[in-house]
Amino acid sequence: MNPNPRHTRIVGTGSYLPARRLSNADLVRQLAAQGVETSDEWIVERTGIRARHFVDDGVNASDLAVHAARHALEAAGCRAEDVDLIIVATSTPDMVFPSTAAIVQRKLGVHGCPAFDVQAVCSGFVYALTVADAMIRTGSARSALVIGAEVFSRILDFNDRGTCVLFGDGAGAVLLRASDTPGILATDLHADGRHVDILCVPGTVSGGKVLGDPLLKMDGQAVFKLAVGVLESTARAVLEKAGRSTEQMDWLIPHQANIRIMQATARKLKLPLDKVIVTVDAHGNTSAASIPLALDVAVRDGRIRPGHCVMLQGVGGGFTWGSVLLDF
Ligand code: ACO
Repeated sequence: MNPNPRHTRIVGTGSYLPARRLSNADLVRQLAAQGVETSDEWIVERTGIRARHFVDDGVNASDLAVHAARHALEAAGCRAEDVDLIIVATSTPDMVFPSTAAIVQRKLGVHGCPAFDVQAVCSGFVYALTVADAMIRTGSARSALVIGAEVFSRILDFNDRGTCVLFGDGAGAVLLRASDTPGILATDLHADGRHVDILCVPGTVSGGKVLGDPLLKMDGQAVFKLAVGVLESTARAVLEKAGRSTEQMDWLIPHQANIRIMQATARKLKLPLDKVIVTVDAHGNTSAASIPLALDVAVRDGRIRPGHCVMLQGVGGGFTWGSVLLDF
């Protein structure tokens, strides 16, 4: 047994949204011009989304990640050169390789510490946080930047109204530090590769060409049903591991995909809706960025305060899902 158990604490949060905001009305107009019919009413009623942000040409996931990381570093009063691990969760990396994390490291003007990407789609941030927590607790790192950054607008099929209205671009980041007190209380991760096909971007690069379709495909109803079931089970699992009850939770920050999935999860957990942080209305689904974005919004507006018990929950392509329970 380790006589000096280490814990991991979040000591700073940050986020960044590209300036170009499209309300549902803006998107409906843009889609109508290309013959795709949708409406503000349909989008709001089925998803809770009212607006999303899209990057301009030439802006990549690493650019959003760097802004979010700088905000998290500033909040923690930490210099980039004092970070000794960088993990970026993304499904929309700048390039095939090197990792977006290595590009972020260069843009932050530092070098030497390990930097790598985690690819678990909308669960990417809870996966990355779990890896960073393990590395800190085993002594491989004392501080870590964990970032979720996405430019999903690059992989949307704007002729498919069932998916192109759902997603947005953005980034969120946390700075973690080793601590004598928790911090992260418990983590719980899962994947079920039998469901690879229900949410995917099947294209790949081969011989200098794109093989297959490089745009997002989704069976929305299959995703919906799976998501609600696994979010309840992983919530119960992580609470049990931490020896906490739902009543002891101050906040739930679920992956921001769809307000109906969040409401169904809260109902199953018997958690009042005013304990659920919701940003999907303003951001759309920003995949791996959605949880740290929502966390940063709620920290900066004063809802989440030191000592609060917070559950973060991811779910998405793979199929992947998981939770992190922490004392903020
Ligand atoms: N505007 C207007 N009508 C639409 C639109 C649109 N944007 N999209 C689909 N429709 C129509 C369909 O064509 C269909 O019409 P029909 O009945 O004439 O055939 C009708 O609406 C119903 O379509 P469904 O796909 O059955 O609609 P559903 O109620 O399932 O809602 C949705 C679709 C919102 C995608 C839902 O299935 C869902 O939320 N799924 C969860 C998926 C999700 O959130 N994914 C995000 C990524 S995964 C993740 O992050 C976990």
